Amino acid sequence: MSDYNFPTTRMRRLRYNRVLRDLVRENFISPERLILPLFVRTGNNIRQPIPSMPNQFQLSIDELEKEIKEAVSLGLGGVILFGIPDQKDANGSDAMNQDGIIAQAIRAAKSVAGDDILVIADVCFCEYTDHGHCGVLRNLPSGQQEVDNDATLENLARQVIIQAEAGVDMVAPSGMIDGMVWRIRKCLDNIGYSHIPIMSYSAKYASSFYGPFRDAAESSPKSGNRHSYQMNPAASAKQAIREIYLDVNEGADIIMIKPALAYLDIIKAAKDKFEGVPIAAYNVSGEYCMIKAAAEKGWIDEQAAVLESLTAITRAGANIILTYWAKDVARWIN
Ligand code: PBG
Repeated sequence: MSDYNFPTTRMRRLRYNRVLRDLVRENFISPERLILPLFVRTGNNIRQPIPSMPNQFQLSIDELEKEIKEAVSLGLGGVILFGIPDQKDANGSDAMNQDGIIAQAIRAAKSVAGDDILVIADVCFCEYTDHGHCGVLRNLPSGQQEVDNDATLENLARQVIIQAEAGVDMVAPSGMIDGMVWRIRKCLDNIGYSHIPIMSYSAKYASSFYGPFRDAAESSPKSGNRHSYQMNPAASAKQAIREIYLDVNEGADIIMIKPALAYLDIIKAAKDKFEGVPIAAYNVSGEYCMIKAAAEKGWIDEQAAVLESLTAITRAGANIILTYWAKDVARWIN
């Protein structure tokens, strides 16, 4: 570095004006790489505000269709759908029923989306079970309950069949169930859907930043927590690499890290390790509500803070970002 010395070298020369700064920038955010999460419920003409997520709504299917048309006109890459059923039970049956909320939502979404935007479905059970866990429960000899991994795999396969038959473009398993990608890939291939990609929530942490989402999806666990399946934030970063490695081997086409902002190191590590595998990052509900709340108080500039956050996620190595701001960002940068 000895030849890089002041006053020969002046870093400010390339920051002299906007055009010059833009000329040498390397990180861009673009609408086609953004995915908008949407919550769908039964009923008609419903746009039920989610208190902890200002400007986000539980939508009935007619409203979902409007939302998707808007997302198409803004050039977004995709929407990811979360269903909120009327009836929850221990197995999450609604998710495995062709007349359930998610199947209906996918069919309706596809009817307006065409091939202009991807209709992605979250594959998990926490929104559909009455106990709020991400799979079926079993009793342990100790009297405690846990998510039964392998029984849940069979239900995930059933859930994915329903979604595939409804016309989903991509499935996104989010339950951190061991073998989920393998089971879903095998199932899709068996029923003639080998072309449907899997975007796996590969490194998903047991995070406090999901709180508002659980209000939105009415999916908080009624007892206990998700620590026995989601990752420990204090685990070695190498554990995330192992999780991702397994998913890639099982057939994941896109890997996801979640949450995004507190896990930029994991995004970067995945980027370095898995060259050529597209990486998605989920800018989660807690990240959303913090900026929203501060902006409402006039303490922070929402647009600047959001663009800076998404730029950081991009710079860390994510190609794709799931964010509740997707529509706003598209408007801001168009
Ligand atoms: C689970 C799921 C969760 C989120 C997406 N999929 C929540 C959880 O694990 O409890 C959270 C997303 C967010 O906070 O925005 N199906």
